[in-house]
Amino acid sequence: MYFTPWLPMLATVTLISGQCDVTPSAGIAGQVSGTVCLEYQLSTNMTAIKCILQCFLEEECRVAYIDSDGGLTRCVKCQGIQSIEFTSAVHEKFYLHGEVLTENLVTAPQQKLFIAGGLAVGQVVILKGVLWSQRTFILFTLTNNNYAFLIEFRLYSAAIVRNAKFGYWGHEERSKPHFNFTAGQEVEIVCIVGQEEYVVFMDKLFFFTFRHRTLDLGAINYLEYAGTGTAGSLSSFFITS
Ligand SMILES: *[C@@H]1O[C@H](CO)[C@@H](O)[C@H](O)[C@H]1NC(C)=O
Ligand SMILES: *[C@@H]1O[C@H](CO)[C@@H](O)[C@H](O)[C@H]1NC(C)=O
Repeated sequence: MYFTPWLPMLATVTLISGQCDVTPSAGIAGQVSGTVCLEYQLSTNMTAIKCILQCFLEEECRVAYIDSDGGLTRCVKCQGIQSIEFTSAVHEKFYLHGEVLTENLVTAPQQKLFIAGGLAVGQVVILKGVLWSQRTFILFTLTNNNYAFLIEFRLYSAAIVRNAKFGYWGHEERSKPHFNFTAGQEVEIVCIVGQEEYVVFMDKLFFFTFRHRTLDLGAINYLEYAGTGTAGSLSSFFITS
């Protein structure tokens, strides 16, 4: 498996479920709000994919979409992602520029992936994982082994606990719209790294926000996936540039 440098890596559901599926296909359904956007009108026969490809060639571009309001077709390229509405039909699709981390995506249930350069405001991470039967831990880990953000599924008490650890654990956050997760189920988690907070979606439904407890996002150099009980596993992990 190798990627030629110009080949776009689209964060479609199909792509992240299979690392080798890199054809520029459908994009992600929904409406995205970006920050620091550049827009221009597309001539009628300039294909939309050209807009997307341009974004993928620019290091600072994280998302692109085609806006066809009012009869004009515009290419919109943005440096950051602020919010996503998966159910909106306004901008039907958006394309995230980033990479599928290829390290360790094998059968080992415990995963610790390196995030080069750490996190930054405006990024999106998308992970897919199979839930463990008791607890599943998703950890955004700092270089000093503290945890900037924990998402923990507890199937036995129908809870999704969020917390952070700087020497010791802080206060837990537990609000949730619903809980119907089961052992062995694969869940897709989309997490926007916002200015003030993380915004987290489960299977395309908004679930919660988590206010940053450290602003040193650049020191969040690892994502860990682990658990207790019958083994779950990390299926894929995508991160925008
Ligand atoms: C673009 O489309 C117009 C009209 O549809 C056509 O006249 C023109 O030749 C096309 N340009 C290119 C480069 O294909
Ligand atoms: C869980 O509940 C939500 C909200 O009611 C629903 O949209 C979703 O399809 C359910 N998921 C499963 C796996 O049952």
